Amino acid sequence: MLTKPMKYYLTTPIYYVNDKPHIGHAYTTIVSDILTLYHRLKGDDVFFLTGVDENSLKNVEAAEKIGMGDKIQVYLDMQAAVWQQTWDSLGISYSYFIRTTEEQHKKGVAQFWERVAAQGDSYKGTYEGYYCVGCEAFVRESDLEEGLCPVHKKEPQRITEENYFFAASKYRDRLLEHIEKNPDFVQPVSRRNEIINYIRDHFEDVSISRQSMKWGIAVPGDPDQVIYVWFDALINYLTGIGYGWDDALFAKYWPADLHLMSKDIIKFHCALWPAMLMSAGIPLPERVFAHGYFTIDGQKMSKSLGNAIDPVEIAKLHGVDALRYFLVREIPFGNDGDFSSERFGQRYESDLAKGVGNFVSRVLAMAEKVERHSEQREESHEDTGSLAATRDDEKVQERVREVWQEYEEAFDRTRPDEALDVSWRLISFGDKYIEERKPWVILKNDKEAYTEVIGVLLELVRQVSVLLYPFMPDTAQKIWRQLGVDTKHKELYLATLKEWRAVPITTVKRGDALFPLTPNP
Ligand code: MSP
Repeated sequence: MLTKPMKYYLTTPIYYVNDKPHIGHAYTTIVSDILTLYHRLKGDDVFFLTGVDENSLKNVEAAEKIGMGDKIQVYLDMQAAVWQQTWDSLGISYSYFIRTTEEQHKKGVAQFWERVAAQGDSYKGTYEGYYCVGCEAFVRESDLEEGLCPVHKKEPQRITEENYFFAASKYRDRLLEHIEKNPDFVQPVSRRNEIINYIRDHFEDVSISRQSMKWGIAVPGDPDQVIYVWFDALINYLTGIGYGWDDALFAKYWPADLHLMSKDIIKFHCALWPAMLMSAGIPLPERVFAHGYFTIDGQKMSKSLGNAIDPVEIAKLHGVDALRYFLVREIPFGNDGDFSSERFGQRYESDLAKGVGNFVSRVLAMAEKVERHSEQREESHEDTGSLAATRDDEKVQERVREVWQEYEEAFDRTRPDEALDVSWRLISFGDKYIEERKPWVILKNDKEAYTEVIGVLLELVRQVSVLLYPFMPDTAQKIWRQLGVDTKHKELYLATLKEWRAVPITTVKRGDALFPLTPNP
């Protein structure tokens, strides 16, 4: 029975372009891609939005620093291309790459601004206080540590200017009520209290324009002011799917099913953003998920320490799939974690080369023997010892069913790391099955039974390949080629693919090792 596909709309933050992407940005984007592939496999109609935040003072300062202060748009074009190319080279399957300097975004932001104003939720006032360019945020004096921003360890700017304010406090109670009634809105749950306390104790009206900024989207009807970069940036989640320029597209995908990011910016997403949406009369996103923060060999990643890891370099060396695997495998999703090249090397060898790589090549090597023996086989079928293998077939099928259930539950909870772990358990199960059944011994006595055991194992390899597809799409396709499975099947729905022996395995042909032990030079 055909059912209408569910829509699934997910987003990454839009990144500042004052530098190139590092492994932290790649983490959010890769995990989003994994969720995208999983939902596409399930048959959902997925829209995956990523992009760049261009109207930021940080970007302007970076342009000035390299003598491009009078060519800011040229600098932004150049940098946006670096980000987009990075995601392209990592095979990220985004649906749209948004830039906040594009006309349709600017148009949508202006429209949104006017809706908020029409509600009487914006007013002119004087802002007097601090602004941290690193955070692109107004900071309270009480948050400073010895006069410095606690995150960036830099002195914030002192600002006194007339600008527009958003009456955020008007929505405080409704916001708290929403979070109370929707336990899945802020994820992981460990972050909920932090958000509730923040909204209750500190969420106030916020300045949403800047007078002195020379770069940004002009305030409608007041060209001397530009819209505050966060107010502009958050709206990308709407304009990226048509708000202000394609009503049908917007109606199809909004509200977002998931905004994914790291914990650094969750307050903007769980307080300011929903208040803005309430004011504009737009439904709230379903879920905001904040994963943890990456350090490098125990240290904060930063330009000054020069320790930022380039994801493209790693992918060149070990392959994109190994990078995807490592990022998800190494850190429980939601926790902070460390990226260590040494750990990467260890995992590459133990989990990929000797784990899945070895399992697949072992089974295929044994399967090649079946092919050879069946070519010599005569027509006569004395069916002797295949009963045990038939029983195996049922036992293994049962195990596979359980694995799929746990896998889907993990994805539903936005726990790709657990889904990956479950997949690995099926590989270990396969290894154990080989050790127990010892097909090489069976081959000596009973060729029919050997064929059946190998049939079970090949199907197990196929099942593993489907489980791995969202995490390691290239590897899954390599396995499909080796199994002679029509690669068009990747467009089939999970509902079919996960069925035991749903897809015929045709000509088995062992290829190169999936994860060679000497990586590319
Ligand atoms: N431009 C804003 C976001 C606006 S969204 C409407 C911004 N940009 S950013 O370039 O600083 O990106 C922050 C995001 O990058 C984090 O939330 C996270 O997704 C990712 N990460 C950057 N560094 C990271 C780590 N060290 N570890 C994990 N994720 C990191 O904030």
